[in-house]
This record gives sequence, C-alpha cells and structure tokens, in this order.
Amino acid sequence: MPKVLLIVHEPNTVLRARAKDIIISKWDPKELKQLAEDMVLTMKKAPGVGLAAPQIGKSIRLIIVDHTPEPFVLINPKIKKHSLRRDTLEEGCLSVPGKYGLIKRYKSVQVKAQTLDGKPFELEAKGFLAEIFQHEIDHLNGTLYIDKALKFI
Ligand code: NI
Repeated sequence: MPKVLLIVHEPNTVLRARAKDIIISKWDPKELKQLAEDMVLTMKKAPGVGLAAPQIGKSIRLIIVDHTPEPFVLINPKIKKHSLRRDTLEEGCLSVPGKYGLIKRYKSVQVKAQTLDGKPFELEAKGFLAEIFQHEIDHLNGTLYIDKALKFI
C-alpha cells in the first residue's frame, strides 16, 4: 500500500541540491515503483498538483505531475524545447507553505524523460501543465519558485 511521506520545507538543504540522475538498472524496480506511488499519494493528500523527489528528502531526479486519468511519473526529466513566449502566472509550493507569488513561465514546453522501467518518452505541455513541469524540474536543480518570483501576493 502506498504511504504518505513527509514533505520537507524551505530552508532544508535537500531542496537546494542538484538532484542525481536515476540509473534505473541500479534500482530494484519494486522500490522505484513504490517510491513513485508514495509520492503520488503524498501529492494528492497535501493536496498539490506536482511533487519532486527532493521535496520528500530524496535528492534524485524523479517528479510526479498531477493529470487525469493517471498522474505523470517522470524519471530524469529534461526540458528539450520551450516556447519563446512566457506568461506571468500565480504559483505556490508545498515546500514553501502559505506563500504565493507571480512568476514568468514558458507557455509551452517539450519534456523528455524515462518511464519507471527506463523507456524514453517525450511529452508536450501547455499552460498550467507546462507551468507545473517547469516548477518540478526546477526543484531537481535546487531552484524554488520564490527565487524567481516577480512579487508575492
Ligand atoms: Ni514546489
């Protein structure tokens, strides 16, 4: 059964580290799947729309993004391409509770990643979904939205 994990808050140093690539062949597949399921449940309970592994204290490149019918699970995600245009959007973070800010995000992104069993795939996201991908991938690089916010609201 999936379990709810503890979400770490700023200024925890794990949020500021560059997370390590996941070498899937070095993981027990069950353990990685369990971790992803725990993160999905943790995100839903929070409630949130995305979660990156550093937020549950693991400095590895794994993110969860809420989506219907199934959340996206991305291993080693990378923004391959993005629109030139950006939108100013409202954002918050489960690791920075009670705070919201305005931030500029690309309108659309093309993301490259691996599935839990190591298969490469790509997806394209626009609008709110693109914002979440940018926010979660920033987490893997030790960046929080508060570093980039134009102002807090
Ligand atoms: Ni966040």
